[in-house]
Amino acid sequence: MLKLKSTFVPAAKRAASALDKHGFQVTTYARPQDLLITRGNNSKLYDDVHNKEYIDFTAGIAVTSLGHSNPGVAKILCDQSQKLIHSSNLYYNPECLELSEKIVSKTKEFGGQFDCTKVFLCNSGTEANEAALKFAKKHGIQLNPQKQGIVAFQNAFHGRTMGALSVTSNPKYRTPFGDLIPGVSFLNIHDELTTLADFISSKKDEIAGLIVEPIQGEGGVFPIDADKLVGLKKICAENDVVVIYDEIQCGMGRTGKLWAHAYLPKEAHPDIFTSAKALGNGYPIAATMVNDKINDALQVGDHGTTYGGNPLGCAISNYVLDVIGDEKFLQEVNRKGELLTSRLKQLQKKFPEHITDVRGKGLIIGAEFAEAPKELIQKARENGLLIITAGKSTVRFVPPLTITDDEIEQGLSIFEKAVEDVYA
Ligand SMILES: Cc1ncc(COP(=O)(O)O)c(C=O)c1O
Repeated sequence: MLKLKSTFVPAAKRAASALDKHGFQVTTYARPQDLLITRGNNSKLYDDVHNKEYIDFTAGIAVTSLGHSNPGVAKILCDQSQKLIHSSNLYYNPECLELSEKIVSKTKEFGGQFDCTKVFLCNSGTEANEAALKFAKKHGIQLNPQKQGIVAFQNAFHGRTMGALSVTSNPKYRTPFGDLIPGVSFLNIHDELTTLADFISSKKDEIAGLIVEPIQGEGGVFPIDADKLVGLKKICAENDVVVIYDEIQCGMGRTGKLWAHAYLPKEAHPDIFTSAKALGNGYPIAATMVNDKINDALQVGDHGTTYGGNPLGCAISNYVLDVIGDEKFLQEVNRKGELLTSRLKQLQKKFPEHITDVRGKGLIIGAEFAEAPKELIQKARENGLLIITAGKSTVRFVPPLTITDDEIEQGLSIFEKAVEDVYA
């Protein structure tokens, strides 16, 4: 492990006393007590208090896609904050107008939702999904007041606010909070298309929308078959059910295309899709994209947000979209994804009883383990690599998209050593 420069020592001393204050945070996270992130640079994170350097394969849970402390993002943050941070949605601001137009035009240019026309800007993934659910319900209710229900899928994750939680199946997240919004049905995405179709068509007068992640992220990095999504969209279109793709984790270049659904033929494109996480590279901003059919169901006053579309967040997102919405950048994501995947497959050959699958697209990759890899995550951290789990027994690799080949190699060497230490 690298020794840190002495210039960071005074800051480290100040930060050290911060750890003593951890008791003032509500009990919703179990964090390691021996780790305090004080700064970052591309795919590296530093703990100046404990004098440690880490390779970060988590990117703040698929957020800092252009790397930590990205100089372009930092410059825009600094410049825009001196110009205008917030002005509310009572008035237009140029950055928000530019961003909405850019999302629509880049979406079309890079093979995403072909009929995308409008954007609602907000602040987090869960909020983007709230907007999507409300828009779908409004569309359904206008056709028939009973058409309010939502179809969602087992093993999916859509957020923690009451609406987004209502369409998230995991009982651990739901049951402590009692009654959630009614009318939600959870189907199994792996069921035959005919089973899913029968359910949707038999309840078509009660179902307003269907929400699905093209790649289930938190659930364990499970890409959904293109055929399944094509079939689902067809059934939904036949039954006036609005299709929502949650691209909060798998979108914004993570799969090697701007949007994960850009891998799909046009007939599987959604009516609504949502983005957050990497959209602001760490600045909280999110977006809900819709076609004219959805927008026609909306009126002034139907939905709102104080901070959404603020000039600071939009200026940052304009920059992030310019960098990620670029063919060469996306090709690099694919190349690095292949590098990481092939190295993980080699490791799987060495430990076939423990690593049972390696799957994903671009730089959202899951390595499935035969048992929950808790010890492995800890061992990797001790040796200078940050990784996260997904689902029950998947190790999730979602590094910054700007990670260098060297950083991939360094991180994988630590990972391989940790696998050997735990399983050899
Ligand atoms: C697919 C998906 N949807 C929604 C969310 C919620 O986003 P946020 O935490 O920004 O509210 C997440 C977060 O992990 C996610 O992965």
